[in-house]
Amino acid sequence: MASVFAMRKQDEAPGALHRPIFQQLKAHQEVMAAIHMRDLFAADPARFERFSLQAGELLLDYSKNRISDETMAMLVRLAEEADVAGWRERMFHGDKINNTENRAVLHVALRNRGNHPVFVDGEDVMPKVNGVIERMGVFAEKVRSGEWRGYTGERITDVVNIGIGGSDLGPQMVYQALKPYRHPRLRVHFISNVDGAHVKETLEALNPETTLFIVSSKTFTTQETMTNAHYARDWLLTQSQAEKHVAKHFVAVSTNRGAVTAFGIDPANRFEFWDWVGGRYSLWSAIGLSIVLAVGAERFIELLEGAHQMDEHFRHAPLARNMPVILALLGVWYNNFFGAESHAILPYDHYLRSLPAYLEQADMESNGKSVDRDGNVVDYPTGQIIWGATGINGQHAFYQLLHQGTRLIPADFIVSVEPHTELQEHHDILIANFLAQTEALMRGRTLEETQAQTGQAAPYKVFDGNHPSNAILLQKLTPHALGMLIALYEHKIFVQGVIWNLDSYDQWGVELGKQLASRILPELHAGVPVGGHDASTTALINYYRRMSHRHTGI
Ligand code: F6P
Repeated sequence: MASVFAMRKQDEAPGALHRPIFQQLKAHQEVMAAIHMRDLFAADPARFERFSLQAGELLLDYSKNRISDETMAMLVRLAEEADVAGWRERMFHGDKINNTENRAVLHVALRNRGNHPVFVDGEDVMPKVNGVIERMGVFAEKVRSGEWRGYTGERITDVVNIGIGGSDLGPQMVYQALKPYRHPRLRVHFISNVDGAHVKETLEALNPETTLFIVSSKTFTTQETMTNAHYARDWLLTQSQAEKHVAKHFVAVSTNRGAVTAFGIDPANRFEFWDWVGGRYSLWSAIGLSIVLAVGAERFIELLEGAHQMDEHFRHAPLARNMPVILALLGVWYNNFFGAESHAILPYDHYLRSLPAYLEQADMESNGKSVDRDGNVVDYPTGQIIWGATGINGQHAFYQLLHQGTRLIPADFIVSVEPHTELQEHHDILIANFLAQTEALMRGRTLEETQAQTGQAAPYKVFDGNHPSNAILLQKLTPHALGMLIALYEHKIFVQGVIWNLDSYDQWGVELGKQLASRILPELHAGVPVGGHDASTTALINYYRRMSHRHTGI
């Protein structure tokens, strides 16, 4: 099924944007570009009601966007013509929509709490999915209750997840977000970087007798993860002195049974998942084991239920009242019609401080692509640059550019109504700031207003305003609400991928660097000067060889 952007005649450039709806939107953008949002608000007291939406405990206010009813109607037509509804059904149905890897895309099956059958190659995957969730719960309970002991009979106090990318960012973000729910004895640590400082610094503070490692790797071949896992194994063995103790201190999460066994991990302690779970969509699978250990199976199920509720909303709500679809269309509006290059994620919640990093991978590894699913080079911008930080810290750092810079940077503000602490005064200050920022970004301040307020007609004190933002309000950052929030973004990414006609579930762009690194690695300590690269790379390798030889003697 071709996307709206990919429809083209034989003699036209690949990816030409030739659907009539695209041209109509382009013309409409010229009209909207000349309108200020403060005028839209002034003209329509019901703008908030018109452009806001509740799904479960999530409220989305998208009224502070450069849109009208007409804009939204046209954007929804864009989604219809791209066949978002058809692709959505194909995904939920288990069709192999990851076409370059010939795989189904079924993270939704991992949280299919309705438990209706989902088939891949004629097999219902739900019994296996439920079986692994069950095993994770049983295992976690043993560790949490203290029944599972280390090699000296001590209870586990520290869990170390060794993984990278999707095998790190998702569980880490969720662990941090759900910290108020964690088991009081168990601390979870995450090691991802192959810079030895990460593993060394983390393990220095730990006791091998009470530490449990989870080696999380879909492939179990990722160089960074395996290097860190071997180091951790040696660290344990240096102290415990017997191979048999590895089984008490190492478990694995992987699709690769053979490699897990070869590492010395008891196959009974391998938690499996499947090739139809993409790395960056895997926190719902056994990759979430560190989450289950930290917050318990019940809370993990609540997380899955939240995601499932968003899945149901996404699957059944009309496109015009569909939260992920709306977020996706607004992103396309700014990306493809206003030329906005990036999108900021600004949580006003300390517990969500890792959300921007998580979404960087989720979004950019999914939609950072220039070849469409039909193999054509696209001639339109695809994945936005996703970035951000906690909003309140951002206010004292980069918001200057959001308010008075030369770029249009749409932003999502994410807030919890109820805090996890009893420090209500802190929370009110946080919320007042969130509200003030979105208001300032939208309204700005004219020269006349500046003069009236400050007594100076200083241009540098003027704020143009008209900067779009979405506000996403959670009632409270519970496991359920978090599940909804993450699934919201997953589906937003999916819808944008459909509109841009991408395979959002492969990641070939990470391959070349990996290949080159494995060629370069042995060259770093070669006995003779190396060649065969470009002049810069060759010179840098030889410089490193010389200089590191001085210091290591290798
Ligand atoms: O290099 C990118 C990537 O393949 C991600 O997509 C993935 O999340 C990460 O590496 C980790 O892969 P694995 O779980 O196989 O170790």
